[in-house]
Amino acid sequence: MAKLFLFIVTSALFLSHCHTQNYTPDWPSIDSRPIPAWYDEAKIGIFIHWGVYSVPAFKNEWFWTEWKSGGCPACEEFMTAHYKPGFTYQEFGPDFTAEFFNASDWADLFQRAGANYVVLTSKHHEGYTLWPSKYSFSWNSMDVGPHRDLVGEFAAAIRNRTSLRFGLYYSMYEWYNPLWMQDKANGFTTDEFVTTKVIPAFKEVVERYVPEIVWPDGEWEALSTYWKSTEFLAWLYNESPVKDTVAINDRWGSETRGEHGGFWTGGDRLNPGYLLPHKWENCMTLDKQSWGYRKNAKIEDYLTPEELMRTLVETVSCGGNLLVNVGPTREGMIAPIQQERLLQMGDWLGVNGVAVYGSVPWTSQNDTVTQGVWYTASSDGSKIYAFVTSWPGESVQLGAVTYNPTITISMLGHEGNLPFDAASPGIRILFPRPDLTTSKWTWTLVITN
Ligand SMILES: *[C@@H]1O[C@H](CO)[C@@H](O)[C@H](O)[C@H]1NC(C)=O
Ligand SMILES: *[C@@H]1O[C@H](CO)[C@@H](O)[C@H](O)[C@H]1NC(C)=O
Ligand SMILES: *[C@@H]1O[C@H](CO)[C@@H](O)[C@H](O)[C@H]1NC(C)=O
Repeated sequence: MAKLFLFIVTSALFLSHCHTQNYTPDWPSIDSRPIPAWYDEAKIGIFIHWGVYSVPAFKNEWFWTEWKSGGCPACEEFMTAHYKPGFTYQEFGPDFTAEFFNASDWADLFQRAGANYVVLTSKHHEGYTLWPSKYSFSWNSMDVGPHRDLVGEFAAAIRNRTSLRFGLYYSMYEWYNPLWMQDKANGFTTDEFVTTKVIPAFKEVVERYVPEIVWPDGEWEALSTYWKSTEFLAWLYNESPVKDTVAINDRWGSETRGEHGGFWTGGDRLNPGYLLPHKWENCMTLDKQSWGYRKNAKIEDYLTPEELMRTLVETVSCGGNLLVNVGPTREGMIAPIQQERLLQMGDWLGVNGVAVYGSVPWTSQNDTVTQGVWYTASSDGSKIYAFVTSWPGESVQLGAVTYNPTITISMLGHEGNLPFDAASPGIRILFPRPDLTTSKWTWTLVITN
């Protein structure tokens, strides 16, 4: 009882300390805020790239600028062959119809995929907003296309699933916004785009939809001082409706990746293969070539289930979270191949999730003798989990695990313990008959001391 009381008192003190902390608009203060524990424990999220680029659904979500810059002859040929001369990118807007978009179905799918959070592109580099922003008149999902508040519908469906946290991606720059082009031409000595558009719309979307992950992008051409990022973040941490729970990435200016903000993201598809000294996230795609939907994608362009599960365990072993991207169609459907990969991940996590969610990096990230074996540990340190990413045949040698006759070894999705013996170095573990385990693609050994 006394212990419990002490616990309550210290928790209350800790919480009130959190609530009264006042962050100042500079990086040392912003960076002093810890990344919320829920984010590390969640491990798996779903990224959704959806916008007007889902209408041409050709090349990738950079279609507008790839086509206009002349850097993509195939894009020009596509437009010449299928659209009338002089067709503008804006004319794709009305065909972004979303007539089959059912937010509740998406939420169910992402939950069944084993994800704990979602991140939707509220606005990509084309500038079109998926919510009725008063700062994006006539270039938003209420005025043009679906005539619906897509962010609002999705946020409501996600909030209705207690296991999922809601997050938003937000592109700072907009390729062809005249105010951006003017500030850029002025060498960023002016900031009209930031003060009249970027910050007001960013605050609007945060206040209206309360995202617990704030995931900016499109920051790289200008310093964080131009974007007024620390001012925005001081507001986010001191005053916004998500000040106590929000997790953020590191894309706040050309100098901030891997330096400032929250979790590190690198240059997309970050997967270093070793433990990073800071929490990070591997945002990656099921279609290896694009974040947005591509009508002409082939089956070979997709990650296989083996590749997806291997990427998952490599990422988590090295201290990362995995953010798996889907690109819905202009009608609001998620292609069956993308649904299938997500459901396969969900099946795999259903058997092996105990070694993923809430796990911590172990002393070794991968094995010292057998390739493709990755490790995590339970947060109390009582168990080591070894992910074996290809079926090894009769046995596997783990060089990083010290032999001790009192340990027990089992496999998730398999009944009973596995025999093992000393090896040089480490231990050798006999694998069961393949039909006696319910796992597929990657198998998890549980080593208990
Ligand atoms: C979404 O789909 C579910 C069934 O999956 C259905 O019950 C619901 O009415 C649909 N919602 C809308 C807005 O169409
Ligand atoms: C909320 O969740 C419940 C249970 O999963 C479901 O029956 C209901 O349709 C959901 N409502 C919305 C608006 O998604
Ligand atoms: C373990 O991972 C590191 C870094 O990715 C790699 O260089 C090394 O070859 C791996 N070890 C084995 C045995 O595969």
